[in-house]
Amino acid sequence: MLIQKDLPKKIKELKKKRKAIILAHNYQLPEVQDIADFKGDSLELSRIAAKTEAEVIVFCGVHFMAETASILCPDKKVIMPDLNAGCPMADMLTAQQLKELKRRHPRAVVVGYVNTSAEVKAELDFCCTSTNAVKVVDVLKDREEIIFVPDKYLADYVEKKTGKKLIKWNGFCPTHIRIFPEDIKREKIFHPFAQVMVHPECLPQVVDLADVVCSTSQMCRFAQESQAKEFIVGTEVGLIYRLKRDNPIKEFYPASEAAVCPNMKRTTQEKILWALEELRDEVRVSNDIRRYARKAIDRMLNLR
Ligand code: 13P
Ligand code: SF4
Repeated sequence: MLIQKDLPKKIKELKKKRKAIILAHNYQLPEVQDIADFKGDSLELSRIAAKTEAEVIVFCGVHFMAETASILCPDKKVIMPDLNAGCPMADMLTAQQLKELKRRHPRAVVVGYVNTSAEVKAELDFCCTSTNAVKVVDVLKDREEIIFVPDKYLADYVEKKTGKKLIKWNGFCPTHIRIFPEDIKREKIFHPFAQVMVHPECLPQVVDLADVVCSTSQMCRFAQESQAKEFIVGTEVGLIYRLKRDNPIKEFYPASEAAVCPNMKRTTQEKILWALEELRDEVRVSNDIRRYARKAIDRMLNLR
């Protein structure tokens, strides 16, 4: 029988045999982050997937992230240890709904968050992540109309930063909206010298209270480079593990313990081992969808 402490060794052996790499999003469980070859935010993981020489990518995150990797590396096998790890925000917009929105705004350029299905990405002009959403819209600012889907709160933040009015969709992250302005205010009372880092998927009233608004990996860099010793973290609680590991002498306080993404917690070391043993479950995007979705992702990746 396999016991928990033997798992990392077993995974490493199999990984070598399968010529695989393990990518883990910053919200993954500590046991997954510990076994990963690379940890990162959506943009970083896409860039690593695009460049890897490995034959197999074990994607520890949610479905749209593995799909993005598969779009970028059609000749590689992309597998997810738990195929049921989806993103409720990505499920809030279908390709059919986006087609209808485009029909109502035929002159609009279409920007979509990476948190979308491959079918939705195939309908986009530009993809973006939380790292570069402001930059993408800034580039397109002179266009008469811009559709920005599906996250209405990220859209709100981008509007504030660029001054450009966007045509939005009613999508949101059920995890980030659990962080309330009262949470930030309370933590500020307990930790008056702490810097407040907030993800742009949060409610606008929360974003307004932040010292810095950025992606999960940008938070890791900010924490490392900042002179501050304490940080209030307004995003999914899984990031705290990485922040603490990378900065053992600094303190990190979750803005709210309720900000848990259950889908990000579905992957475990045991499931990674099974995935490597059986090389499943594979995530693959059909060629016709992939061709169009790739264009929108490449336009984003080519932005410097
Ligand atoms: P990041 O790209 O900032 O890691 O965010 C991804 C995500 O799903 C946030 O909820
Ligand atoms: Fe989706 Fe929110 Fe989970 Fe990110 S935290 S994967 S946006 S549900």
